[in-house]
Amino acid sequence: MDTSELEAKVRQRGLPKHIGVIMDGNGRWAEARGEDRLVGHREGSTSVREVTRCARRLGVQALTLYAFSSQNWSRPPEEVAGLMDLLREYLLKEREEILGNQIRLNAIGELDRLPRYVKEPLDELRAVSAHHTGMTLTLALSYGGKEELLAATRALMARAVAGTLAPDRLTEELFEQHLWTKGLPPVDLVVRTSGERRLSNFLLWQSAYAELHFTDTHWPDFRAQQLCEAILAYQHRERRFGLTGAQLRRAGT
Ligand code: IPE
Ligand code: IPE
Ligand code: MG
Repeated sequence: MDTSELEAKVRQRGLPKHIGVIMDGNGRWAEARGEDRLVGHREGSTSVREVTRCARRLGVQALTLYAFSSQNWSRPPEEVAGLMDLLREYLLKEREEILGNQIRLNAIGELDRLPRYVKEPLDELRAVSAHHTGMTLTLALSYGGKEELLAATRALMARAVAGTLAPDRLTEELFEQHLWTKGLPPVDLVVRTSGERRLSNFLLWQSAYAELHFTDTHWPDFRAQQLCEAILAYQHRERRFGLTGAQLRRAGT
């Protein structure tokens, strides 16, 4: 089946509103070809473009891409510098496409740790695309789920200490208002490429009821076709949210 047939098939059933992707395997993809790891990261940015285009065509509301974790700062300095250069290049090169397709560019993570030459184009693109309603593309940059939960907890504790929030008034909804993902729909599907079966600190709270899709394909080889395959697999899952299958069938009729 070619990609347009696959996309037509995906459109026959309900789409996940929010897809999160752990883009893993760039390094192994390059090393298997005897190339520098950065060659894999560069090829991976083509996958970012292709997957974003496909999600937008399909009408996915929110796509969150895990591009750089809080823990990735501890990689060799040359690799970190190469990734930062690629990020800047991505933001400059994709600007027109993002704006032309009504995409809202968003970012989550410890963004103040990013170098100025990345933070500036990032902030500019976030600002000029803020009113776009086509799709929210969130880059998880210098992101960690534990770091996010700690930041939310700190902000809430500060309110409690200031006397503006009583502990028993803290609800799930209020907690979510303090997460970096505030305003995004719940994550329906998390995809991880490259064979690892772990979350690696990605959207820990938000993935509570997400369906998980693991594929052995390395991120540089993950394109529109593979995204469609992941969504098709998702569409055949039964999401029970703690209920019984019988309860769900009754509610559905
Ligand atoms: C994912 O690919 C990109 C980042 C984490 C920045 P990796 O660089 O982790 O590739 P592998 O897992 O070493 O193959
Ligand atoms: C997770 O991949 C982070 C990103 C994809 C940005 P890693 O390659 O850093 O994760 P681990 O180290 O295999 O858990
Ligand atoms: Mg990896």
